[in-house]
This record gives sequence, structure tokens and C-alpha cells, in this order.
Amino acid sequence: MARTFIAPSILSADFARLADAARAVEGNADQLHVDVMDYHFVPNLTFGAGTVEALRKYTSLPLDCHLMIEDPDRWAPLYAEAGASSVTVHAEAVHDLVRTPKAIRSLGARVGLAVRPGTPFERYESILDRFDMFLVMTVEPGFGGQSFLYDMLPKVKAVRQMLDRRGLALWLQVDGGVNEDTIEQCAEAGADVFVAGSAVYGADDPGAAIEALREQARRARTGG
Ligand code: DX5
Ligand code: ZN
Repeated sequence: MARTFIAPSILSADFARLADAARAVEGNADQLHVDVMDYHFVPNLTFGAGTVEALRKYTSLPLDCHLMIEDPDRWAPLYAEAGASSVTVHAEAVHDLVRTPKAIRSLGARVGLAVRPGTPFERYESILDRFDMFLVMTVEPGFGGQSFLYDMLPKVKAVRQMLDRRGLALWLQVDGGVNEDTIEQCAEAGADVFVAGSAVYGADDPGAAIEALREQARRARTGG
């Protein structure tokens, strides 16, 4: 497992200066994490597909859209069409676990499946070949800057073991409260894509913060 991707979340950036936020991490970030919220699935409202399309013109970074919305079956393809490189839907909101991932893939994007902290992953085990990434939420979705839920570490570990046992090549993403105090434990548990909002955009030098986080995660994984 060679990948150690850091995906800064623009939820923690200045919403009036998103292009600048993308530029600030270009050359350091592996992807840009776009948190889409609809006031229904979560009590917050952020970006739509139009924002993704606009942002696409200002950055060459892959746009990783995390849809915290109701009815992703209907809306997710729009994000792939808008230029997202990956589109992640929530297991609690998606209805059609056959057609929706297929539709996203057919538009050339990778597709992810996310679970809230209280949602067990085991029930999705048999259908994971339809997905390219699994996202274990390490906070309740809705807001940046929350404290990492350490209870989620055994879940991350169990997902990693299950993926390895089944020979599935899905990326394993963690999102929420990932920072210099928690990223090592996430890496040890087997995560390979790390979303970080406040730890990157709250830093004086976002690019340097990304490099430091990646280095910590790499070292934790190799045990030295
Ligand atoms: C929470 C979002 C996260 C959030 C992470 O609903 O999905 O991506 O922005 O922010 P931090 O790293 O500050 O917890
Ligand atoms: Zn997110």
C-alpha cells in the first residue's frame, strides 16, 4: 500500500476565495476535498455542482466531492459531469446501490461510499466491488473543526482488514478531526487517504502543513 494522499477540505477555507484556497495547496495536496451539504442530510449548506464546475477552471487538482445530501441517486452524476474526479455518496442516503455507482463511473469519475460514525460497514461488504473508495467518517458529518472520534479507529482497522482479505483495491479515506495529533493513528489503522480541513487551512502555511501531515502518516505506517 504505497498511497498516502492528503486531501485538504475547502470547507475550512474562505468561501469567497475558493480559487485562492485551491492555489494555496497546489503542488502539495493530492486532491481537493469538496464538502457538499444540502441542509437536509446535514444541518449545513455549502456548495453545488456549479461551484465544482467553476473551481475546475482554476485548479488542476483532482476534485474529490463528498456528498452529504439527500437523494444522491439523483444528484451525484451532476458532480461527475461538473468535473469531479471522485464522487462519494453516503450509505445512509443512497437508494440504488447498483445504478448510482455505475452512473458515476460511466461518467469517468471514481465513486466512493461513506458511512456515518454510527453506521456499520459490514452490511456493504458484498457490494464494495462497485466502489473505488470507502470513507469512514471520524466525526458526525456537517461541520469542520470537530474533535476526532477515537472510537472510529477500530472501524478503520476492521475495514482495512476486510478489504485486504477480500482482495479489494478500494482507497480507504478518513474524514473529520484529522490533524497532527490523530493522523498517525489513522495511518496505523490502515487509512491511505486523509481529509484535513482545519489542520490545513487553519495553518499559516497550508502547503507545509500538508507535507508535515503526509510525512507523519508515512512514518506511522512504516513504523519508523
Ligand atoms: C465534515 C466534513 C469534513 C470536514 C473536515 O462533515 O466532511 O470534510 O471539513 O474538517 P476538519 O478536518 O476540520 O475536521
Ligand atoms: Zn468531507
